[in-house]
This record gives sequence, structure tokens and C-alpha cells, in this order.
Amino acid sequence: MKLNEVQRAAQEQFARQSHRYGQGHILENVDDVRAAAEQMTLPARARVLDVATGGGHTGLYFASVGHDVTLADLAQPMLDRAARLAAERGLKVTTRLHAAEQFPDADASFDLVTCRVAAHHFSSPADFIRETARVLKPGGWFLLIDGSIEDHQPEAEEWLHQVEKFRDPSHHRFLTPGGWSDLCKRHGLAVKQAALAPFKQPDLNWYFDTAATSPENRQKVLDLVAHAPPSARQLFGLGEEDGKIVWWWQRLTLIATKRGNQ
Ligand SMILES: C[S@@+](CC[C@H](N)C(=O)[O-])C[C@H]1O[C@@H](n2cnc3c(N)ncnc32)[C@H](O)[C@@H]1O
Repeated sequence: MKLNEVQRAAQEQFARQSHRYGQGHILENVDDVRAAAEQMTLPARARVLDVATGGGHTGLYFASVGHDVTLADLAQPMLDRAARLAAERGLKVTTRLHAAEQFPDADASFDLVTCRVAAHHFSSPADFIRETARVLKPGGWFLLIDGSIEDHQPEAEEWLHQVEKFRDPSHHRFLTPGGWSDLCKRHGLAVKQAALAPFKQPDLNWYFDTAATSPENRQKVLDLVAHAPPSARQLFGLGEEDGKIVWWWQRLTLIATKRGNQ
């Protein structure tokens, strides 16, 4: 697999940190996925591709309700862990090692493509959306869940970008709902919903540990927090609770369908 610099950084980061994304991780709670699934009409046994599957939580949810799921990621240790978790739960899934910017699958081969809390690492969101649209069957569904930020908030967006980049240098960029919706429309995906919901980050130190942030970069983030502009302070509800730094992420849930009938 030939990778660019951004993809390689993500691969190294997640291969190293894969042990943190399995059972007990905050992403194991799939209430957001379940709620989104209720808004999509899928065949009884849909073909599902979960891109950048990480610990596998999203794909395994769809496997647990009877769908035929492929888990894809560019970090092999992540796929190994997700496959182990599937086996422990008695679920059958296929795993595939590939990047989110180019899929090995034939055109029109899936009823649903999912991607949760990963797209901010992708070197080219446009390539990811183009590939998603290509492999979806006409009438198929796309579910994207990711950290995001309100449209038209450049100062807060830049502040958050710096925080995320110091915390985890493999972070690439959060896109706004408008940014993702434009990409979808350009590639023939009709957006049914692009909604932000606040999602609490309960402890900055936990968030550092998840990414194995270096001591120097932790200090840089703490300095950014101490000097956050009012726009960011207000938008993210930055504050302290029981000695812990907390804030609220905006989590985007975007649901789209590929134009055309199945
Ligand atoms: C936070 S985890 C994903 C969480 C998971 N989707 C869930 O719902 O629990 C992020 C994953 O994105 C993967 N990733 C990052 N950049 C990628 C890329 N360009 N192509 C494919 N996978 C990528 C990482 O290897 C990692 O496993």
C-alpha cells in the first residue's frame, strides 16, 4: 500500500495506539450510530463498508443486527483487534487493509458506507467522498460521524485545529457541515441530514493519554487553553470540573444517499 505523508502519520499513530480503542473506549458506546441507523432504510442483509473502522465499534454494530460487514482501515493492528472483538461477540466480518482515499472495491458494491470519528485524519476528504459515492449502489446510504465545527467560525476553528494538531500530529482537519455537504453534492450524494450535536470531552488528560501526546505538546495545548479566544471559549464550553479541563466537541452526523434507484 503506497501511502502519502498524512496517511503514514495516521497509520503509525494508530498502529501504536490500537490497544486503547477496543473495549472500554468512549467510542464503544454506539448510541449515535443506532440513532442514525433508524433514519436509513436498509435491505434485511445489507452490504456495509465501515471505513477507518478503528476498534470496529460502528461496523460491529451493523454486523450485530444482521448485515454483511467489511471493516477497512490502514492500520493492521486496528483490524486485528476489531476482528478479535468480532470473534468474541460471535460476529462474522471481513477485514480489509486499505486507505480511505482509495478503495479496492468494484463500483456499486455496497448498500451503506459508514465512517465514524476518523475522517479528520484523511489526507483528502474529496477523494474519500468520491470513492464512497463510487462504491455505493444507487439509492445506497452514507453515514459520516465526525468531530466538526459550526460553519463561519474561522477563529474558533483555527484554535481547535491547533489544539488537535498538538494533541495528535496525525490530525488533519475538521470540516464544517457545509464543507462536507458540498463535497457530497459534488459527487452525487444527496444530503438528508447534516446536524451537529454537542459531545462532552470529560478530561483533557484522558484525551492526551489516548493519543500519547508528548509532554511538550501537552504544555502547548495547555497554553492554548489558557489563552483561548472568547469565540472558542464560548463555542466549546471550555471549563473546569473537579480539577479536570472539559469542553464540548461538536459532533457531526451526516446522512446522505446516492442519487438513483436501486
Ligand atoms: C478513532 S479511530 C476510528 C473509530 C471507529 N470508526 C469507531 O467507530 O469506533 C480512527 C481510525 O482511522 C484510521 N485512519 C486514519 N486515517 C486513515 C486513512 N487515511 N485511511 C484509512 N484509515 C485511516 C486509523 O487507523 C484509526 O483506526
